[in-house]
Amino acid sequence: MDTTAKKEMLAKLREESLLGGGQERIDAQHAKGKMTARERVNALLDKGSFRELDAFVTHRTHDFGMDKKKYLGDSVVTGWGQIEGRPVYVFSQDFTVFGGSLGEVHAEKICKVMDLAVKNGIPVIGLNDSGGARIQEGVVSLGAYADIFLRNTLASGVVPQISAILGPCAGGAVYSPALTDFIVMVKKTSHMFITGPDVVKTVTHEDVSMDDLGGAIIHSTKSGVAHLACEDEQDALEQIRTLMTYLPSNNMEDAPHQDTGDDPNRRDQSLNTVVPDDPRKAYDMHDVISKIVDNGDFFEIHGAYAQNIICGFARMDGNVVGIVANQPLVLAGVLDIKASVKAARFVRFCDAFNIPIITFEDVPGFMPGVHQEHDGIIIHGAKLLYAYCEATVPKLTVITRKAYGGAYDVMSSKHIRGDYNIAWPTGEIAVMGPEGAVNIIFRKELQEATDPVAKRAELIETYKEKFANPFVAAARGYLDDVIDPSETRPRLIEALKICQNKRDSNPPRKHSTMPL
Ligand code: HXC
Repeated sequence: MDTTAKKEMLAKLREESLLGGGQERIDAQHAKGKMTARERVNALLDKGSFRELDAFVTHRTHDFGMDKKKYLGDSVVTGWGQIEGRPVYVFSQDFTVFGGSLGEVHAEKICKVMDLAVKNGIPVIGLNDSGGARIQEGVVSLGAYADIFLRNTLASGVVPQISAILGPCAGGAVYSPALTDFIVMVKKTSHMFITGPDVVKTVTHEDVSMDDLGGAIIHSTKSGVAHLACEDEQDALEQIRTLMTYLPSNNMEDAPHQDTGDDPNRRDQSLNTVVPDDPRKAYDMHDVISKIVDNGDFFEIHGAYAQNIICGFARMDGNVVGIVANQPLVLAGVLDIKASVKAARFVRFCDAFNIPIITFEDVPGFMPGVHQEHDGIIIHGAKLLYAYCEATVPKLTVITRKAYGGAYDVMSSKHIRGDYNIAWPTGEIAVMGPEGAVNIIFRKELQEATDPVAKRAELIETYKEKFANPFVAAARGYLDDVIDPSETRPRLIEALKICQNKRDSNPPRKHSTMPL
């Protein structure tokens, strides 16, 4: 074969590889409202930046007539590209080839980009659309999954790993995403489950639709498996692009600085009236966050799940911060099992990737109740406590109102290495709220009082004066300052600057034994 013929062959093979499982299957994919693997890669990455790897790889299976069905590149497209000019590795499962199912060479292609990602300190984004283990390859495909799981685990905390679920993900196909840092799903067209509705029906006799079992809404509101539920694929890929702007490329880097143009000295007088005079009245902590962070831009994570706590990324004077905030508007901002686990995970992510954490606190305590106790609030609440305790990134805390009980300790208190702990004058730091406290410590007095209602009111007032303020904690140095709410932004930015070279560590050990 001469050079011209070889070049022609290359062009022909290249063209063939771009077609995946063929035009008919591409049309079927489009008819389902889904993009092809390549269209997704191109929509995710900066225009023209994708460089493909392993486009000529084919499977090595002979069973079930597979030797006659080969597709260049097999059922996954892999390579690198850029998002906002920063490099990422990407793999995109091709549903038009054997339903995106994962066999030996499919896994080898993914493992190759994961190994390169860790070696080069670059994030990995997986676009998942797969029928799971390739049935024709049997145990080889199970082993191939395990090869990926191992890499997901070893890459955890080294480079950010993001998973988009863009079709069915069953069996093994859910566990690789589950080991990654963020899962993004698409409403109606993406599903995740260990086993589908048919198996569920056989085993538990439950009748359930695909959506109700493992759709984007269920996983982003009820199970917490998905961090974001998007309207369509384009939206999901855009969200990932935005998320990437808040993340460093690896654990040795800081998140990228962005000039936001927002004045670091900006004061907001409306913060002085955000907290209602009546302590039983709620307010939206989102308002507090958006008035303080650069241009009010807040990228919320798990926004529809455990809404009594808010987690997400923002910038302060152009530098990325992680925000954790109790939400008085939902369940009074109480810490229950779901909120504790959600925030613990977020705090650990921020700590792993050098992102300072700002905590806004208004919390009446941990959620009491039989269900919470029986489901293990003790162990799950301990996860958040543990995450804050072990975190060595700069930790700043603003108590806006209640900091009651164990929740005071948990929410990044001074005692667990908070770097800058401040309160607004409306702060109330106590073992519990006045009503509960008076019932317990003055039970006898209340029983013996001639007018128990008046006596109760009097005792509550005395308790409030003594404890329902930030000054007792400030007098002990548990708070570094009590500030005018309007100056929260400049105070936090100043503290972040002071902490920017912070060095702190935990004792050397193989790994901790956090209460999982
Ligand atoms: C090989 C597969 C496949 C698989 C689908 N295909 N799944 N090929 N192995 N696992 C092929 C089909 O043969 C078909 O090929 C094409 O992909 C499209 O599949 P359809 O069924 O026509 O598509 P659709 O109706 O959209 O249904 C998609 C689906 C369904 C829901 C994913 O195919 C399905 O239920 N597949 C099996 C899912 C599953 O149980 N996987 C194993 C999980 S166990 P043609 O040639 O017709 O285009 C597992 C264990 C790992 O993963 C454990 C590790 C811990």
